[in-house]
Amino acid sequence: MSVKIIGTGSYVPERILTNADLEKMVETNDEWIRTRTGIEERHLAAPEQATSDLALEASRRALEMAGIAPEELGVIIVATITPDHLFPNTACIVQRELGAKNAFCFDLEAACSGLLFAIEVANGLLLAHRKLKYALVLGAEKLSTLVDWEDRNTCVLFGDGASALVLKQVPEGEGTVVASDMGSDGECTEILKAQSGGSRMPASAETVAQKLHCIKMDGKEVFKHAVTEMVNSCQQVLAEAGVSPSQLRWLVPHQANYRILKAVAQKLDVPGENVYMNINRYGNTSAASIGLCLDEMNRRGLVKPGDYVLLTAFGGGLTWGATLLKW
Ligand code: UT7
Repeated sequence: MSVKIIGTGSYVPERILTNADLEKMVETNDEWIRTRTGIEERHLAAPEQATSDLALEASRRALEMAGIAPEELGVIIVATITPDHLFPNTACIVQRELGAKNAFCFDLEAACSGLLFAIEVANGLLLAHRKLKYALVLGAEKLSTLVDWEDRNTCVLFGDGASALVLKQVPEGEGTVVASDMGSDGECTEILKAQSGGSRMPASAETVAQKLHCIKMDGKEVFKHAVTEMVNSCQQVLAEAGVSPSQLRWLVPHQANYRILKAVAQKLDVPGENVYMNINRYGNTSAASIGLCLDEMNRRGLVKPGDYVLLTAFGGGLTWGATLLKW
């Protein structure tokens, strides 16, 4: 058996926050943001929209493309660091709204690597259980709720959005997922985190006043680790699959910073025109970002059957990974 991606979907909320808008909020400028990150604008969810609302839209689009009914789903996994609640999980809320009553549902937290980790888990489940025919895998984030809008080091970077993939169990040799490599390093938890809101430091009036629930990041350290680990993971996956960088139709890195993407591509020897980027329009949407790229590429006809597409991600934890697809 193997596993095939049969549907993709994505959704970004309507409201756009431009670099010019940010200039009015913190001491920054469009030139700095564009040249240091590649970001021009990002989408922000409305106050009444939660992560599951974004996920639901993306799910409907992916299911429509896959041509299957919600009842056929055996499992739903939502990768997110911004769940609707601490519990119940966001995947159960998506299940309820879709009417996917035969699925078991859980969230997965691996920050920006979440979608790749979720594909890895869903792939394993589909291969292990003959009765599981279809999985719905989502990366969905309302990061705007974790952003300190007075911190120019982070507030220019992030955006909201959701992406979805429908995976199907298929006979050996017909699958999309070819090879993968996932990794983590718990020694580096401090360089990218939200301090409060969990059991170590529950939310209180004081933690909220000090904005300890917001994203704090040592950008330079994260940058260095991101390049090293994504390159290593990609190289391992390519070696395992016996595929050379020149055979890749697309490299699709997590959209964190176009300079990180460029550095990864250069070290892997993948030409710029084979690197997919949409960070200029969405910013860093964490677990949603790779799926936002894949859905866009798929709907624009930029991926053809037989194309090799290498996904790679990096995020808080630290977590990272690479997944090679043959479309
Ligand atoms: O999703 C995975 C997790 N996140 C990432 O992968 C992000 C990784 N890191 C990065 O993308 C980059 O490190 C940043 C974009 C966050 C920062 O870029 P940088 O080139 O590393 O800048 P820096 O932090 O070294 O700051 C350079 C200067 C500083 O001023 P001084 O000290 O040189 O006077 C900053 O205070 O730029 C200043 N600066 C800003 N200036 C205008 C920092 N943020 C801003 C800003 N606007 N928004």
